Amino acid sequence: MTGETGHKLRGDYSRMRPDYTVDQEWESYSSAEHDLWRRLYARQESLIAKHACDEFNDTLESLHFGEGIPRFDAINAKLKPATNWQLVAVPGLLPDLTFFDHLANRRFPVTVWLRDPQEFDYIVEPDIFHDFFGHVPMLFNPVFANYIQAYGRGGIKAHALGAIEMLARLYWYTVEFGLIDTPKGLRTYGAGILSSGGEIAYSLESPKPNRIGFDLLRIMRTRYKIDTFQETYFVIRDFRELFDATAPDFTPYYAQLRGHEPYAPSVVLPTDRVYHRGVSPQRAA
Ligand SMILES: [Fe+2]
Repeated sequence: MTGETGHKLRGDYSRMRPDYTVDQEWESYSSAEHDLWRRLYARQESLIAKHACDEFNDTLESLHFGEGIPRFDAINAKLKPATNWQLVAVPGLLPDLTFFDHLANRRFPVTVWLRDPQEFDYIVEPDIFHDFFGHVPMLFNPVFANYIQAYGRGGIKAHALGAIEMLARLYWYTVEFGLIDTPKGLRTYGAGILSSGGEIAYSLESPKPNRIGFDLLRIMRTRYKIDTFQETYFVIRDFRELFDATAPDFTPYYAQLRGHEPYAPSVVLPTDRVYHRGVSPQRAA
Protein backbone atom coordinates (compact mmCIF):
# COMPACT_ATOMS: atom_id res chain seq x y z
CA MET A 1 0.00 0.00 0.00
CA THR A 2 1.17 3.52 -0.76
CA GLY A 3 -0.22 6.87 0.38
CA GLU A 4 -1.21 9.78 -1.80
CA THR A 5 2.35 11.04 -1.92
CA GLY A 6 3.57 7.61 -3.03
CA HIS A 7 5.40 6.70 0.20
CA LYS A 8 5.03 3.21 1.64
CA LEU A 9 2.38 3.03 4.35
CA ARG A 10 3.58 1.81 7.73
CA GLY A 11 0.63 -0.33 8.83
CA ASP A 12 0.62 -4.12 8.60
CA TYR A 13 -1.69 -4.94 5.69
CA SER A 14 -0.75 -8.63 5.60
CA ARG A 15 -3.54 -9.94 7.83
CA MET A 16 -6.49 -7.85 6.74
CA ARG A 17 -9.82 -9.12 5.47
CA PRO A 18 -11.06 -8.22 1.95
CA ASP A 19 -12.74 -5.09 3.35
CA TYR A 20 -9.37 -4.05 4.88
CA THR A 21 -10.51 -4.62 8.46
CA VAL A 22 -8.33 -6.36 11.05
CA ASP A 23 -8.69 -7.31 14.70
CA GLN A 24 -7.65 -4.54 17.06
CA GLU A 25 -5.59 -7.00 19.22
CA TRP A 26 -5.82 -4.66 22.18
CA GLU A 27 -3.74 -6.99 24.37
CA SER A 28 -0.71 -6.41 22.15
CA TYR A 29 -0.35 -2.71 23.03
CA SER A 30 2.62 -2.18 25.33
CA SER A 31 2.53 -0.25 28.60
CA ALA A 32 4.77 2.36 26.92
CA GLU A 33 2.10 2.82 24.24
CA HIS A 34 -0.65 3.21 26.81
CA ASP A 35 1.52 5.74 28.59
CA LEU A 36 2.10 7.68 25.35
CA TRP A 37 -1.66 7.65 24.77
CA ARG A 38 -2.25 9.10 28.25
CA ARG A 39 0.22 11.89 27.57
CA LEU A 40 -1.27 12.68 24.16
CA TYR A 41 -4.75 12.66 25.64
CA ALA A 42 -3.81 14.88 28.59
CA ARG A 43 -2.18 17.47 26.33
CA GLN A 44 -5.17 17.61 23.97
CA GLU A 45 -7.69 17.63 26.79
CA SER A 46 -6.11 20.78 28.15
CA LEU A 47 -6.40 22.46 24.75
CA ILE A 48 -9.87 21.50 23.65
CA ALA A 49 -11.93 22.89 26.51
CA LYS A 50 -12.03 26.40 25.05
CA HIS A 51 -11.49 25.47 21.40
CA ALA A 52 -13.70 22.48 20.59
CA CYS A 53 -17.44 22.78 20.04
CA ASP A 54 -19.72 21.71 22.89
CA GLU A 55 -20.82 18.61 20.99
CA PHE A 56 -17.24 17.36 20.99
CA ASN A 57 -16.36 18.37 24.53
CA ASP A 58 -19.49 16.92 26.11
CA THR A 59 -19.11 13.57 24.38
CA LEU A 60 -15.40 13.30 25.07
CA GLU A 61 -16.02 13.79 28.76
CA SER A 62 -18.65 11.07 28.84
CA LEU A 63 -16.51 8.47 27.06
CA HIS A 64 -13.64 8.27 29.54
CA PHE A 65 -10.92 6.98 27.24
CA GLY A 66 -8.03 8.98 28.62
CA GLU A 67 -6.56 6.22 30.77
CA GLY A 68 -5.03 4.18 27.95
CA ILE A 69 -5.61 3.11 24.38
CA PRO A 70 -9.33 2.38 24.24
CA ARG A 71 -10.91 -0.91 23.22
CA PHE A 72 -12.98 -0.43 20.10
CA ASP A 73 -15.60 -2.95 21.24
CA ALA A 74 -16.19 -1.01 24.48
CA ILE A 75 -16.79 2.20 22.53
CA ASN A 76 -18.94 0.35 20.00
CA ALA A 77 -21.21 -0.76 22.82
CA LYS A 78 -21.95 2.94 23.43
CA LEU A 79 -21.82 4.16 19.82
CA LYS A 80 -24.22 1.62 18.35
CA PRO A 81 -27.21 2.66 20.49
CA ALA A 82 -26.31 6.35 20.14
CA THR A 83 -26.14 6.74 16.33
CA ASN A 84 -25.97 3.20 14.95
CA TRP A 85 -22.32 3.65 13.91
CA GLN A 86 -19.54 1.15 14.54
CA LEU A 87 -15.78 1.50 14.62
CA VAL A 88 -13.81 -0.98 12.55
CA ALA A 89 -10.08 -1.59 13.06
CA VAL A 90 -7.89 -1.07 9.98
CA PRO A 91 -4.12 -1.14 9.31
CA GLY A 92 -4.04 2.52 8.18
CA LEU A 93 -5.11 4.49 5.14
CA LEU A 94 -7.52 2.70 2.81
CA PRO A 95 -8.23 2.78 -0.91
CA ASP A 96 -10.84 5.47 -1.63
CA LEU A 97 -13.69 3.16 -2.55
CA THR A 98 -13.15 0.91 0.49
CA PHE A 99 -13.15 3.95 2.75
CA PHE A 100 -16.34 5.34 1.19
CA ASP A 101 -18.06 1.96 1.43
CA HIS A 102 -17.36 1.78 5.17
CA LEU A 103 -18.72 5.29 5.75
CA ALA A 104 -21.79 4.65 3.59
CA ASN A 105 -22.54 1.68 5.86
CA ARG A 106 -21.95 3.61 9.08
CA ARG A 107 -18.62 1.96 9.84
CA PHE A 108 -15.79 4.28 10.78
CA PRO A 109 -12.28 2.92 10.07
CA VAL A 110 -9.83 3.50 12.92
CA THR A 111 -6.12 2.79 12.52
CA VAL A 112 -4.80 0.29 15.09
CA TRP A 113 -1.22 1.51 15.55
CA LEU A 114 -0.01 4.40 17.68
CA ARG A 115 2.67 6.91 16.67
CA ASP A 116 6.21 6.79 18.07
CA PRO A 117 7.11 9.07 21.01
CA GLN A 118 9.19 11.33 18.75
CA GLU A 119 6.03 11.97 16.71
CA PHE A 120 4.23 13.42 19.73
CA ASP A 121 3.61 16.77 18.00
CA TYR A 122 3.38 15.79 14.37
CA ILE A 123 2.64 12.68 12.38
CA VAL A 124 2.38 12.25 8.62
CA GLU A 125 -0.08 9.34 8.46
CA PRO A 126 -3.19 9.25 10.66
CA ASP A 127 -2.68 6.93 13.67
CA ILE A 128 -5.08 5.63 16.30
CA PHE A 129 -4.80 8.83 18.32
CA HIS A 130 -5.84 11.03 15.40
CA ASP A 131 -8.57 8.65 14.25
CA PHE A 132 -9.94 8.02 17.72
CA PHE A 133 -9.54 11.25 19.63
CA GLY A 134 -10.30 13.43 16.60
CA HIS A 135 -13.16 11.59 14.96
CA VAL A 136 -14.96 9.32 17.39
CA PRO A 137 -16.65 11.89 19.69
CA MET A 138 -18.34 13.58 16.71
CA LEU A 139 -19.79 10.23 15.57
CA PHE A 140 -22.03 10.45 18.64
CA ASN A 141 -23.73 13.54 17.20
CA PRO A 142 -26.73 12.31 15.17
CA VAL A 143 -26.67 15.07 12.52
CA PHE A 144 -22.92 14.89 12.03
CA ALA A 145 -23.04 11.09 11.94
CA ASN A 146 -25.62 11.28 9.16
CA TYR A 147 -23.42 13.75 7.30
CA ILE A 148 -20.47 11.32 7.34
CA GLN A 149 -22.67 8.57 5.95
CA ALA A 150 -23.97 10.91 3.22
CA TYR A 151 -20.36 11.77 2.44
CA GLY A 152 -19.53 8.07 2.04
CA ARG A 153 -22.44 7.56 -0.33
CA GLY A 154 -21.37 10.65 -2.25
CA GLY A 155 -17.84 9.24 -2.39
CA ILE A 156 -18.97 6.04 -4.11
CA LYS A 157 -20.74 8.18 -6.70
CA ALA A 158 -17.77 10.55 -7.06
CA HIS A 159 -15.50 7.55 -7.61
CA ALA A 160 -17.63 6.48 -10.57
CA LEU A 161 -17.66 10.03 -11.92
CA GLY A 162 -13.91 10.61 -11.53
CA ALA A 163 -14.61 13.45 -9.10
CA ILE A 164 -12.91 12.24 -5.93
CA GLU A 165 -10.43 15.11 -5.86
CA MET A 166 -13.26 17.64 -5.65
CA LEU A 167 -15.21 15.68 -3.05
CA ALA A 168 -12.09 15.04 -0.95
CA ARG A 169 -11.75 18.79 -0.48
CA LEU A 170 -15.14 18.80 1.24
CA TYR A 171 -13.98 16.14 3.73
CA TRP A 172 -10.74 18.00 4.31
CA TYR A 173 -12.32 21.39 4.96
CA THR A 174 -15.15 20.02 7.12
CA VAL A 175 -14.51 16.67 8.83
CA GLU A 176 -10.78 17.32 9.23
CA PHE A 177 -10.40 21.11 9.48
CA GLY A 178 -13.88 22.56 9.94
CA LEU A 179 -14.81 25.45 12.24
CA ILE A 180 -18.28 26.22 13.59
CA ASP A 181 -19.81 29.55 14.60
CA THR A 182 -21.32 29.15 18.07
CA PRO A 183 -22.82 31.57 20.62
CA LYS A 184 -19.49 31.24 22.47
CA GLY A 185 -17.53 32.27 19.38
CA LEU A 186 -15.74 30.20 16.77
CA ARG A 187 -14.99 26.63 17.78
CA THR A 188 -13.70 23.61 15.91
CA TYR A 189 -15.19 20.22 15.14
CA GLY A 190 -12.45 19.11 12.70
CA ALA A 191 -10.48 16.00 13.65
CA GLY A 192 -7.25 17.24 12.06
CA ILE A 193 -7.37 20.28 14.32
CA LEU A 194 -8.67 18.55 17.45
CA SER A 195 -5.91 15.93 17.41
CA SER A 196 -3.14 18.47 16.75
CA GLY A 197 -1.17 20.16 19.50
CA GLY A 198 -0.31 23.28 17.50
CA GLU A 199 -3.10 23.87 15.03
CA ILE A 200 -5.89 23.97 17.58
CA ALA A 201 -5.05 27.46 18.88
CA TYR A 202 -3.71 28.63 15.51
CA SER A 203 -6.93 27.75 13.66
CA LEU A 204 -9.04 29.89 16.01
CA GLU A 205 -6.73 32.61 17.29
CA SER A 206 -3.99 33.35 14.79
CA PRO A 207 -4.51 36.43 12.57
CA LYS A 208 -2.83 34.59 9.70
CA PRO A 209 -5.37 32.15 8.21
CA ASN A 210 -8.57 33.11 6.40
CA ARG A 211 -11.84 32.09 8.02
CA ILE A 212 -14.59 31.97 5.45
CA GLY A 213 -18.28 31.04 5.62
CA PHE A 214 -19.15 27.55 4.40
CA ASP A 215 -19.79 27.42 0.67
CA LEU A 216 -19.98 23.96 -0.88
CA LEU A 217 -18.89 24.77 -4.43
CA ARG A 218 -16.17 27.12 -3.25
CA ILE A 219 -14.76 24.40 -1.02
CA MET A 220 -14.80 21.76 -3.73
CA ARG A 221 -12.80 24.15 -5.88
CA THR A 222 -10.16 24.97 -3.25
CA ARG A 223 -6.85 23.14 -2.95
CA TYR A 224 -5.42 22.34 0.48
CA LYS A 225 -2.04 21.82 2.08
CA ILE A 226 -1.26 18.52 3.76
CA ASP A 227 2.11 19.43 5.28
CA THR A 228 1.51 22.81 6.96
CA PHE A 229 -1.20 24.47 9.01
CA GLN A 230 -4.14 25.44 6.83
CA GLU A 231 -4.22 28.84 5.15
CA THR A 232 -8.02 28.87 5.04
CA TYR A 233 -10.69 27.43 7.30
CA PHE A 234 -14.38 27.25 6.41
CA VAL A 235 -16.98 28.02 9.05
CA ILE A 236 -20.37 26.32 9.31
CA ARG A 237 -23.32 27.82 11.22
CA ASP A 238 -24.49 24.45 12.51
CA PHE A 239 -24.29 20.76 11.63
CA ARG A 240 -27.62 20.91 9.85
CA GLU A 241 -26.08 23.27 7.28
CA LEU A 242 -23.42 20.66 6.62
CA PHE A 243 -25.85 17.79 6.26
CA ASP A 244 -28.25 19.78 4.07
CA ALA A 245 -25.41 20.70 1.72
CA THR A 246 -24.89 17.03 0.88
CA ALA A 247 -28.56 16.39 0.06
CA PRO A 248 -28.48 17.36 -3.66
CA ASP A 249 -26.93 15.19 -6.35
CA PHE A 250 -23.40 16.55 -6.88
CA THR A 251 -23.19 15.40 -10.53
CA PRO A 252 -24.05 18.83 -12.01
CA TYR A 253 -21.68 20.51 -9.52
CA TYR A 254 -18.78 18.38 -10.70
CA ALA A 255 -19.62 19.19 -14.32
CA GLN A 256 -19.70 22.89 -13.47
CA LEU A 257 -16.41 22.82 -11.55
CA ARG A 258 -14.56 20.72 -14.07
CA GLY A 259 -14.00 23.61 -16.46
CA HIS A 260 -12.36 25.81 -13.79
CA GLU A 261 -8.90 25.96 -12.27
CA PRO A 262 -9.01 25.22 -8.54
CA TYR A 263 -8.36 28.13 -6.17
CA ALA A 264 -5.09 28.34 -4.25
CA PRO A 265 -5.45 27.51 -0.52
CA SER A 266 -4.77 31.12 0.47
CA VAL A 267 -7.09 32.98 -1.88
CA VAL A 268 -9.95 35.21 -0.67
CA LEU A 269 -12.70 35.95 -3.18
CA PRO A 270 -14.93 39.05 -3.27
CA THR A 271 -17.91 36.72 -2.76
CA ASP A 272 -16.49 35.13 0.41
CA ARG A 273 -18.12 35.75 3.78
CA VAL A 274 -14.98 36.53 5.74
CA TYR A 275 -14.84 36.27 9.52
CA HIS A 276 -12.72 39.03 11.01
CA ARG A 277 -11.19 38.36 14.42
CA GLY A 278 -13.55 35.43 14.80
CA VAL A 279 -16.66 37.55 14.35
CA SER A 280 -19.19 36.42 11.77
CA PRO A 281 -19.86 38.83 8.87
CA GLN A 282 -23.55 38.94 9.80
CA ARG A 283 -23.01 39.67 13.48
CA ALA A 284 -20.44 42.35 12.72
CA ALA A 285 -22.79 44.15 10.32
FE1 LIG B 1 -8.90 12.02 9.93
